[in-house]
Amino acid sequence: MNPSAPTNPGVLPNPVDPQRTGLATRAVGPNDLPALMDLELTGFPAAQRWSERAWSEEVDGEDRLVRLAEATGPSVAGVIAIRISDVAELNRIVVDVDHRRQGIAQLLINEAAGRLPDTVDELWLEVAADNLPARKLYAGLGFSEIGRRRGYYPGGIDAVIMNRPVCDRTGTGREHG
Ligand SMILES: CC(C)(COP(=O)(O)OP(=O)(O)OC[C@H]1O[C@@H](n2cnc3c(N)ncnc32)[C@H](O)[C@@H]1OP(=O)(O)O)[C@@H](O)C(=O)NCCC(=O)NCCS
Repeated sequence: MNPSAPTNPGVLPNPVDPQRTGLATRAVGPNDLPALMDLELTGFPAAQRWSERAWSEEVDGEDRLVRLAEATGPSVAGVIAIRISDVAELNRIVVDVDHRRQGIAQLLINEAAGRLPDTVDELWLEVAADNLPARKLYAGLGFSEIGRRRGYYPGGIDAVIMNRPVCDRTGTGREHG
């Protein structure tokens, strides 16, 4: 356990009411890859985009938790990919530009955290130092900066390493399966 991480970052109410908005979350399957590539195109600059093969490895990986939020339509509103070992690593999160600032990233992170196995105590991630929306999102969800990789991203941008305890802050308890 990282001593600098907050021990009680608090339960954040989720602003997305799935019943009201028509949003639902589910596991990602191979048929979702084209939609994930669309999210990559609008979500990241070319140098940071994942290929379809990279996403395919996430979707097929046995140690991965890959969930999406689906709007009515259905259209994919956002996706999260987490690698599970002794800790959980948030490998990717991206929300469709037309669905941002509606709490979808917060929903995806909270929901995924509630699905992690009890053996996993910490959720880790790396974020580009100049990605202020993502850093604000993570700080608001209780992540603390615990280090940096200097010049890790294209253009010499630092990677900020953050973590938080997994402890249940979904208010719904951990789910399995
Ligand atoms: C970062 C990202 C995932 C946020 O998704 P989102 O669904 O819009 O985020 P949420 O609506 O859940 O935001 C929750 C909180 O995060 C913060 N936040 C999110 N986007 C923000 C922005 N553009 N500016 C400032 N704060 C922001 C706010 O505190 C927000 O709460 P508020 O709307 O009540 O003020 C989205 O902007 C995105 O897909 N960006 C491109 C891909 C990316 O950078 N992924 C992260 C890589 S590490």
